[in-house]
Amino acid sequence: MPPTSSRPRSFWDDAVVYQLYVRSFADSDGDGVGDLGGVIRRLGHIAGLGADAIWLNPCYPSPQADHGYDIADYHGVNPDYGSLETFDRLVAEAHARGLRILMDLVPNHCSDQHPWFTAALAAGPGSPERARFVFRDGRGDEPPNNWQSVFGGPAWTRVTEPDGTPGQWYLHLFTREQPDFDWRNPEVLAYFDDVLRFWFDRGVDGFRIDVCHGLIKDAALRDWDPAGGSYNAYSWNRPEVHEIFRRWHALAAGYGPDRDLLLVGEVWVPDPADLDAYLRPDELHQAFSFDLLVQPWEAAALRGAIERATARTQVHGAPAAWTLANHDVHRAVTRYGIVRPEPAPESNDAFAALMRPRGEVDAELGGRRAGAALLLLLALPGSVFLYQGEELGLPEVQDLPDEARQDPVFHRTGGLEKGRDGCRVPLPWTADAPAFGFGTGKPWLPQPEWFAGYAVDVEERDASSMLHLYRRAVRARKELRLGRPGPVEWLTTGADTVLAFRRGDLVCVLNTGSTRFAAPGSWGEVVLASDGSDVVAADSAAWFRTTGS
Ligand code: GLC
Repeated sequence: MPPTSSRPRSFWDDAVVYQLYVRSFADSDGDGVGDLGGVIRRLGHIAGLGADAIWLNPCYPSPQADHGYDIADYHGVNPDYGSLETFDRLVAEAHARGLRILMDLVPNHCSDQHPWFTAALAAGPGSPERARFVFRDGRGDEPPNNWQSVFGGPAWTRVTEPDGTPGQWYLHLFTREQPDFDWRNPEVLAYFDDVLRFWFDRGVDGFRIDVCHGLIKDAALRDWDPAGGSYNAYSWNRPEVHEIFRRWHALAAGYGPDRDLLLVGEVWVPDPADLDAYLRPDELHQAFSFDLLVQPWEAAALRGAIERATARTQVHGAPAAWTLANHDVHRAVTRYGIVRPEPAPESNDAFAALMRPRGEVDAELGGRRAGAALLLLLALPGSVFLYQGEELGLPEVQDLPDEARQDPVFHRTGGLEKGRDGCRVPLPWTADAPAFGFGTGKPWLPQPEWFAGYAVDVEERDASSMLHLYRRAVRARKELRLGRPGPVEWLTTGADTVLAFRRGDLVCVLNTGSTRFAAPGSWGEVVLASDGSDVVAADSAAWFRTTGS
């Protein structure tokens, strides 16, 4: 067994974490934007799902050029979302319900409104203020190198110097409003130590860390070779990045075992084996298994990703962090419901086509598959991250009017890529209330009429709804302790379209095929099925247990 036994048990060994996109969860003050007051009011929904923790997408003061991933003040709360006092109340009320709180740490870049960046612009070339970012002279009138922004267009923007002349360029791997820090500068390291401590001291239980693979850039900022594809090996996954995670690991460990703090990384790498280095025992505690998220609805592909991720677990003992959806990807119902795929547009983002595949969608089919995928996920050892709205089986809102779209991905690609607004539409709580109960104001993104059918109150009344499946499945996972460390033993099914594995006395079966699968009697009885039946129908999953075990 991996060295999990050499450290004390942690909540994140097998946690169910609810990912909460604050802007779109619940609005308590009628301005059309979700807020922390709304989260406090609706905590019962999350506790009712059986979650152990909440990951809050960034809720710091921000001009919202990338909806909070452009932070102007790392030590505060966005006034639209509340105040530090509201935040403290949320932590206290969540803790009282047994829910931990994870913040989102965004260290690769800040907002161009951050005081450090405005000071850097004012201070001019060669100043210590500029040295906190990546400012360089251009090549004539061209940018310093050929790097591209993940969101479209070049990764460099030229500034006007204090004396009014066209001047240096600064690097931004995302929007121009998100200047990248220079993580080789010790001031940046010290600043983030302080940010971590600030929130740990307020009682947060950990951080989801944004773009871990991007913090350190090639020292010489060498040109990227487009022949190698859009993944730029000079800007991502540089070996020196690991020192930063070792530093944060030690900082978190300094709070002692009673705090049980979590650092979980967003790390996008082309080869999942590259995650190993991030998961060394003195680095990140976990990294998301995006490999599973990007797989098509095929038993062998899904199995392959699970095998690779469980192999990761064996290397350093870091439990997997499973997820099938987040605020950057198309909702699971829509991804799994594609019946006629369409080619993806060219993109600067090496993963865009996988995260947001296009094509004609059968939402009913996608819904069945998403329910089945949930049972697959919840039977696996490790922690599971569930994105808000997935528990309602919401499809992606694909038909948002262009003028309503706010995602910089849409705007920076001239609309070629639709972007991520479709999974961020404010949640429907009550079918017949204004804004479906999200709040009294006009929601910041329009909700389609069909959201009524997915409202919490509607699903509450329907025992066969996705909401009830989520509750039942999370409860059963806990009772059966399926998240605990331990082997995933693959079973022979005799069908390419069906995967099955054993965890203790439980067998999880997923049928991606078009005919029902007859499970051998030795696997026992169905204890939970995604479609409520006692067979493994097409596009469904079921958990079996031997009677009496
Ligand atoms: C991460 C976030 C995404 C954000 C980007 C830039 O990928 O998940 O939402 O836009 O980083 O911060």
